[in-house]
Amino acid sequence: MPLPSKRFTQIREALLTWYNRHRRDLPWRRTKDPYRIFVSEVMLQQTQVERVRQYYERFLRRFPTLEELARASLDKVLKAWEGLGYYARARNLHRAAQIVLRDYNGEIPKDREKLLKLPGIGRYTASAILSIAFGKDAPVVDANVRRVLSRLFALRQHQTHKHLEELAQALLPAGRAGLFNQALMDLGATICVSRKPKCLICPLVKLCEARRLGIQNELPMRPKAHVKPHYDVAVGIIWRGDKILITKRPDEGLLGGLWEFPGGKRQPNESLQDCVRREILEEVNVRVRDLKHFMTVRHGYSHFRVTLHVFEGLYAGGQPRCRGCTAWAWISPKDLRKYPFPSANQRIIARLFDALDGTTVNFRPRTHSVKE
Ligand code: ADE
Repeated sequence: MPLPSKRFTQIREALLTWYNRHRRDLPWRRTKDPYRIFVSEVMLQQTQVERVRQYYERFLRRFPTLEELARASLDKVLKAWEGLGYYARARNLHRAAQIVLRDYNGEIPKDREKLLKLPGIGRYTASAILSIAFGKDAPVVDANVRRVLSRLFALRQHQTHKHLEELAQALLPAGRAGLFNQALMDLGATICVSRKPKCLICPLVKLCEARRLGIQNELPMRPKAHVKPHYDVAVGIIWRGDKILITKRPDEGLLGGLWEFPGGKRQPNESLQDCVRREILEEVNVRVRDLKHFMTVRHGYSHFRVTLHVFEGLYAGGQPRCRGCTAWAWISPKDLRKYPFPSANQRIIARLFDALDGTTVNFRPRTHSVKE
């Protein structure tokens, strides 16, 4: 291997030449607008490029400027984010836009310390914005970059984020950090992929220490994966006449601020029906009856898995009052699409529409006669 400084120069040149020819054509690469780059980087946290593509342009059509985002209601923002997951990102983005409007006259700050104070912006996103939108020499280390660096330098031990960041910083070509960072990301996403890296077409093949040692498939070293816990959750589609009950989750925490069918986690030794009855009473003070199984949905979150047992039932009394929720509403099923729901609930809504024969107007509950 050449001496480090020479090798670093060769890596920079080879990577930038490759990127010039093979970069992915992504919508957020056709702009220099810091707001748009900010939105893209928040969407790209924990989410694949292909998924973000589907949301990015639509989101920006709804909120074309930072000011329009800041002035929109949180419900509207969550609705535009619906299905993208990790909803704290949307809440933070909205809050951050409000702070930027109030404190910085609507201009996203170019200063790392100021960026880091905004909600939802960590080291990674701050560096991505600084390098891509403002041309500053800030290194980014995401999973793709970690993999590329681990292989390029044959790092056999699990590396701390700080160490990788120092390495990425040392590699950065001054003044071209935005391009270089995105080149590393693209190489990791398209060539230096996790399984079966495409070394034969890699622009860095001759400079890659892992390849030289034949250990590219063993890197990066990963800490042991933990087994995700599993929960049974039971929820109700509760009819009152031709309306159904939905509740809104508290703003903080998992899926915060989204709407859902009321229900919750089953307790040990509790039947699923009892769980629906107890949860709905505890959450909104509503009694229910005649629960019938409707469908089962399995869903994986970042740190746990759930089986969602869905029941249909009838309102049996009680004045709705929020205890475990922040709002409740009796709505016509045709209006379900107007509220932001988590993905697992979307599958329930789709099945409900199917069950109603696609009729979303004037419909009657299918399985129950309506008595109040
Ligand atoms: N992941 C995070 N930021 C990205 C970007 N700007 N381009 C491609 N993938 C990314």
